[in-house]
Amino acid sequence: MAGQVAFGKYYFPREKDENRIWRRLKRGSHLLLLAPRRVGKTSLLRHLESQPKEGYVFLYNIVQSCPSVHEYYKCIIDNLFRSEFTNKLSKLTQWSTEKLNDLKTSIKGLNISEAGIEFANQEQLLTHHDLKAVLEKIKINQKLIIVIDEFPDVLEKIHTEHGQAAAEQFLAGCRELVQEPSLDQNIQFIFTGSIGLDSLVNKLNLSDLINVLMTVTVTPLTTEKALTFIDFVSTEDKENLLLSNEIKLYLLERLGWFMPYYIETLVLSVEDHCCENDITCPSQQDIDIAYEQLFTQNYLSNFNHWAERLNRLEKSEQRFAYESLNHIAAHGEITLSDLHNIKASPTNAAVNTSYVIDCLKHDGYIFENGDDAFEFTSPMLKEWWRRHAAR
Ligand SMILES: Nc1ncnc2c1ncn2[C@@H]1O[C@H](COP(=O)(O)OP(=O)(O)OP(=O)(O)O)[C@@H](O)[C@H]1O
Ligand SMILES: [Mg+2]
Repeated sequence: MAGQVAFGKYYFPREKDENRIWRRLKRGSHLLLLAPRRVGKTSLLRHLESQPKEGYVFLYNIVQSCPSVHEYYKCIIDNLFRSEFTNKLSKLTQWSTEKLNDLKTSIKGLNISEAGIEFANQEQLLTHHDLKAVLEKIKINQKLIIVIDEFPDVLEKIHTEHGQAAAEQFLAGCRELVQEPSLDQNIQFIFTGSIGLDSLVNKLNLSDLINVLMTVTVTPLTTEKALTFIDFVSTEDKENLLLSNEIKLYLLERLGWFMPYYIETLVLSVEDHCCENDITCPSQQDIDIAYEQLFTQNYLSNFNHWAERLNRLEKSEQRFAYESLNHIAAHGEITLSDLHNIKASPTNAAVNTSYVIDCLKHDGYIFENGDDAFEFTSPMLKEWWRRHAAR
């Protein structure tokens, strides 16, 4: 369903991206999966988790709401001991209950049960040393892949709430785990999230700490795959709604950027329009109407997260982002010299403009078109922006 992580039979295979990740994992790399919002990172990772290659087992963690180092490690350790994961391990290793109980005592002062972690001393703060202690004890014949979803969120929160030194310490701890020789043979990490972690760490001057990770991404579908995906997400029976190849291609052309979420959004709008008007073979004009419909009140929430992204920037950064995006919406692109001009305005003097542009790139707003200029990633987004910014 549009908007929710696509699981099981709702997951559309993305073999190229999946295989690239597997190749990197097999080389023993720790990965940083960076891609804009809504492109399908979580769906892809959860798919790898549920259908791992022989010899691999995944522990998936969503750490988005962890505001401190302690909460971050508590979340991961908690997931490690949830039956969802321990059952998987027991199956692979035929572990006895004693062995599991022994594992649970690897961290002093913790009482771990299905209900969660309890601390003997409420003041106790978990760190990477605690996770390391548990991981060192998990001796299995499989590679354990620890997925950390929404990692940049945590870093950003720690930075805002506890300052630069805390952010630095947090990343240093993560790096220590990644590089720990005693874990190296058995454990690999995949960090992921939608804020550009690289632009964030550049801004915070912490980039050396993530250099040990290998970057991967999620790519748009090819035209051929995108055509198949239209059928995959269509909920209407063929008798009720027939999309010819030509119409499908036209629909894709209107989107410009072949990411599942956006294709699905437009397909649903087409279905709504056709079903409500008894149309079985939509024409290009019907696609146009369905496309227009996306910008009406009932559908606008599809774009909420785009607006939210910008709200996270500081006020002055936001103003610069608006100016740049308005320029692209009006002229189709923004060249480096246009950017230079906007930068030169006194109101933008203090703005870290390359950081903002990096954020817009990572959030999936814009891409570099090869002519030293940036464009919107999709005409649909551009259209929304024109209307959104004008409001
Ligand atoms: N492989 C896929 N098969 C089917 N639908 C998909 C697939 N990937 C993404 N989608 C669609 O896109 C939506 C967003 O996917 P997902 O939540 O995995 O993206 P994300 O990159 O993790 O987003 P966010 O950055 O917001 O966490 C899903 O709700 C689903 O509708
Ligand atoms: Mg996600």
